[in-house]
Amino acid sequence: MNYLRRPSWWMPDSAATPEAVYLNRRSLMAGAGAGLIAAAAPSASHAAKPEEPFTPAPARNPAYADAGRPITDEALNATYNNFYEFGSHKRISDAAQRLETDGWTIAVDGLVEKPFEISTDDLIAGAPLEERVIRHRCVEAWSMVVPWVGFPLSHLVSLAKPLSGAKYVRFETFKDADVARGQLQFWYPWPYVEGVTIEEAANELAFLVVGAYGKVLHKQFGAPIRLHLPWKYGFKSIKSIVRVSFVEERPVSFWEELQSREYGFWANVNPEVDHPRWSQATEEVLGGDGRIPTQLFNGYGEQVAGLYSGMEGVGDALWR
Ligand code: MTE
Repeated sequence: MNYLRRPSWWMPDSAATPEAVYLNRRSLMAGAGAGLIAAAAPSASHAAKPEEPFTPAPARNPAYADAGRPITDEALNATYNNFYEFGSHKRISDAAQRLETDGWTIAVDGLVEKPFEISTDDLIAGAPLEERVIRHRCVEAWSMVVPWVGFPLSHLVSLAKPLSGAKYVRFETFKDADVARGQLQFWYPWPYVEGVTIEEAANELAFLVVGAYGKVLHKQFGAPIRLHLPWKYGFKSIKSIVRVSFVEERPVSFWEELQSREYGFWANVNPEVDHPRWSQATEEVLGGDGRIPTQLFNGYGEQVAGLYSGMEGVGDALWR
């Protein structure tokens, strides 16, 4: 496993973090040791309410400063969401405001040195925050470009200290049908679950998102913390995570359990492998001028193609 190696786009702390925070972190490190940073870091707006400005604003990662298309209008994005916990349609933004994100915690467990629970405030305070402008491609053949704020999933993996038997990372969303009325739909296998291999989790593109458009994450985007895997279809990018487990067996995801012929584990974007019920060759750019060709791995092959070399035997499963 190589998740502690510096990836090609690595930036020094000073480049990724506003100077005041960076200097403050350095003195904390010198004085108290890195282990205390999470508890003692200066209070940033991650503790603020969803949609409040993220201050200090994390620096934009120059490697992901431009997605090659305009950023999708925030109002459009914020009213066109998949979040089945709040309804099986796109207009869930009002219903999602019922989600209470204060005091949110994440359990980290399974095959790790020592299971722990951490508040998202503490997790974010100790994380190398950055902004990335990233393409987001849904399996339904629409796409957006979103300026996410977050940190590499590899940061959480390194905090978790997985044991050598850990082959996959499994993610779970909250379950509370009093808040999320969509969860009264008993035919869905709640809670929403997703998973990646430990190598995918270590890839520089696997990103834990805590903000968007310079603001603390909107509830409908999956506050307070969601995954984004831009080379995979959007359903892999699980929202409002409460548990991250390191496991030996491949997790069965929400959609795979419902309909494995249509939605598999890998779900890498490929314009040449159609969904059983529609073409994946093109995509509708939301707010754009119509359809454009879809790119292999959503255009991120340089970063991720190597993860799948030698896996040709898996066949179409790699793309569903
Ligand atoms: N996560 C949870 N918990 N519940 C969901 O219904 N929908 C997925 C994914 N994550 C979903 C989820 C799907 S199908 C997509 S396309 C993206 O979230 C949508 O993210 P967006 O609303 O930010 O565009």
